[in-house]
Amino acid sequence: MVFELPAPGLQSSESLVGCIESRRSSREYSKAPLPLGVLSQLLWSAQGVTGAEQKRSTPSAGGLYPLHLKIVVQRVSELEPGTYEYDADSHSLKLVGGCIPEGAMHELGIGNQPWLKDAAVVIGVTAKLGDAVRNFEHQPPQGERGACYVYMETGALAQNVYLQSTALGVGCVLVAGFDDSRVKKVLRLPSELEPTALLCIGKLRDA
Ligand SMILES: Cc1cc2nc3c(=O)[nH]c(=O)nc-3n(C[C@H](O)[C@H](O)[C@H](O)COP(=O)(O)O)c2cc1C
Repeated sequence: MVFELPAPGLQSSESLVGCIESRRSSREYSKAPLPLGVLSQLLWSAQGVTGAEQKRSTPSAGGLYPLHLKIVVQRVSELEPGTYEYDADSHSLKLVGGCIPEGAMHELGIGNQPWLKDAAVVIGVTAKLGDAVRNFEHQPPQGERGACYVYMETGALAQNVYLQSTALGVGCVLVAGFDDSRVKKVLRLPSELEPTALLCIGKLRDA
């Protein structure tokens, strides 16, 4: 099942400098669902298509775009809980799996990270790491440059999501301390996708 997302808003009353200044990691969320429009805006900030050449909101080495987003919806208005894939070209979500139990989400983190189960949404950033490594094999150090690029791109994506979350007044934390094999299993990632980050998002408790 494919869900078209609301078109992203291209105006904001929040200043970029103000968002950079006030950005913080937030790990405590209210039980209220995240509006679908907020999720749409965050996904567009992460990987949305911008401009006429099908380029995206975050930079990508050689324009390869190896990052793919798997979204674990726990509480979002108008969407049933489950696992979704973001399609940047059509700005839509495809339902690919059922609801993930709270306990399984909690166990994805290294150590006790309850925000993984408490978030309204967890955006799983994954990468076609092998493609990136092969594509940049000719660049030294051989076989490593492509992987470096993938993690740099993940960082750029995460910062966009952080700043967009700040502008929208919702909480966000980047979790990179996770158990790779559990994430692969729980998110049912195909073998070519490696997880690179989890972004927990939710309405702020006192908002
Ligand atoms: C590469 C990276 C990995 C991180 N991993 C985690 C994590 O696994 N769990 C977590 O709660 N926060 C994680 N964070 C968030 C940091 O703890 C946070 O950015 C730091 O404490 C500074 O606080 P601030 O983001 O509020 O400015 C990570 C941040 C980065 C940049």
